[in-house]
Amino acid sequence: MRIAVFGAGYVGLVTGACFAELGHDVVVRDVLEDRISTLQDAGMPIFETGLEELLERNRERMLFTLDVREAIEGAEFLFVAVGTPPTYSGDADLSAVWTVIDELPRDLDGDRPIIVMKSTVPVGTGALVRAALDARGLAGVGYVSNPEFLAEGSAIADFQHPDRIVVGAFEESDGDRVASLYAGIDAPVLRTSVPSAEMVKLASNAFLTTRVSFINEIANVCELVGADVSDVARGIGLDHRLGPHFLRAGIGWGGSCFGKDVSALKQLAGNSGYHFQLLAAVIEVNELQKRRPVIAKLERHLGTLRGRRIALLGLAFKPGTDDMRDAPSLVIAARLLAEGAEVSAWDPVADGRIHLHGVETAGSALEALDGVDAAVLVTEWPELRELDWAEAGARMRRRLIVDGRNMLDPVELRALGFEYEGIGRATE
Ligand code: UDX
Repeated sequence: MRIAVFGAGYVGLVTGACFAELGHDVVVRDVLEDRISTLQDAGMPIFETGLEELLERNRERMLFTLDVREAIEGAEFLFVAVGTPPTYSGDADLSAVWTVIDELPRDLDGDRPIIVMKSTVPVGTGALVRAALDARGLAGVGYVSNPEFLAEGSAIADFQHPDRIVVGAFEESDGDRVASLYAGIDAPVLRTSVPSAEMVKLASNAFLTTRVSFINEIANVCELVGADVSDVARGIGLDHRLGPHFLRAGIGWGGSCFGKDVSALKQLAGNSGYHFQLLAAVIEVNELQKRRPVIAKLERHLGTLRGRRIALLGLAFKPGTDDMRDAPSLVIAARLLAEGAEVSAWDPVADGRIHLHGVETAGSALEALDGVDAAVLVTEWPELRELDWAEAGARMRRRLIVDGRNMLDPVELRALGFEYEGIGRATE
C-alpha cells in the first residue's frame, strides 16, 4: 500500500515509520521546510526513543516532501497527523487540519483514497470534514477516524503493541480497509461510528488525567495525616477494578496532549451547554499541583527564597523525550524566579535555554548542583536515580532535596545527610 502522512511531528513520523516497517510505502509531508530538509538529509528533527533507528531501517520505503501532489500521488490512505493546539478559548485549533483538507486537489477521488484522522479533534470534526469534502465534489474520498494513543518516549512500542485500535467510519468498507492496514499487529480492533471514535480519544486522555489529579490530591491529604501515597497507590492498584496505572503522585501532569485534550473536551461539552464539573476540577487541581507543593516545601526549609540558589533536575515533561510543552518545570522555574531565587537547571536532552529565560542551564546534573541551597527533582530521568548523591551532596551548600516524582530512596538520602521531601510521603 502507499500511505501519505500529513505532519512530521512525533505522531506523524512514528506512524509513518511504523507503517513502513510493516512493508508499506510512506510519504511524509509537512509545511516546515527545516523539518523536511533535515529528514531528507537523514537527520532527526525531534527526539523520540528508537525513532532514529526505525527511520534508518526503513529509509528506502520512506519519502519526505513539502509538496502535496507528491505526497498524495498514488496514495490509498491520507493520514492526517498535524497538531491541534489549544486556542485562547480552550477549544482545539483545527487550522492545520483544515489546511490539509483544503489543499487536496479536486481530482483526488480517482482511486477512492481514504482520509484517516490521527490528529486529536473535537467530536463532530469528522462530520464537518465529510460535509466539506462532499461540497467540494470529493464525495468519492473516504473518511475514517483512527485516533492515536502514542505516549511520547514509548510511541513506537505503543504503535506496535497497542491496547486497542479504534476505527470509526462512515462507510463500513472504508473502516475495513483502514483496519486491514494493522493486520500485522496483535490488538483488539474496536469498530465504531466516527463521533464515538473521536470521543474515545478525548475521554481516554481525560480519564488518565483524572486518575493523576486524584492521586495528587490523595498525596496532599497523605501529607497532612501522616500516610505515604506510594503505599496507598500500591494498595489501590491491586484492586483489579482499579488497576495500578497512572497513580504516580507528583508535581502535576504536563505534555503536549493532556492539557489541550482535557480543555478541548471541557469546552466541547460547554459549547453544547453542559458544564463538565469534574474536568474543571481535574484541571484546577493540576494547576495548583504544579505551583504549590514544591515551593511550599522549599519555603518550609529555607524561609524566603529570595537570593537562594535552587537546582532543577530534569526539565522535560517526562523522561524519554525533549518535549517541554506544558511541562511542570516551566511553572516551577517561573515561580522560583518570581520569588527572587536563582535557578540552575539540567536535563539530558531538553534544551532549557529555549524556554527558560533567566535560568542558568548546566552541562551535567552535578554541575547544576554546585553551591545550591536545594535541588528539585522535576523529571524522573534514570540518570538521576544513578547519580552519585554523596558527590552531589558535597557540591551543594545545603543538602535539601524535593523529590517531585518520588523516585529516590528517602532512607538512602537521609543516611547521606540530606533533608528529603517527596510528594505525599511522610517527612522525618
Ligand atoms: C499521553 C497519553 O498517555 C497518550 O495516550 C496520548 O496519545 C498522548 O498523551 P504523553 O503526553 O506522551 O501521552 O505522556 P504520559 O505518559 O501519558 O504522561 C503525561 C503526563 O502525566 C506526564 O507529565 C507524566 O509525568 C504525568 N503522569 C503520568 C503522572 O504525573 N503520574 C502518572 O501516574 C502518570
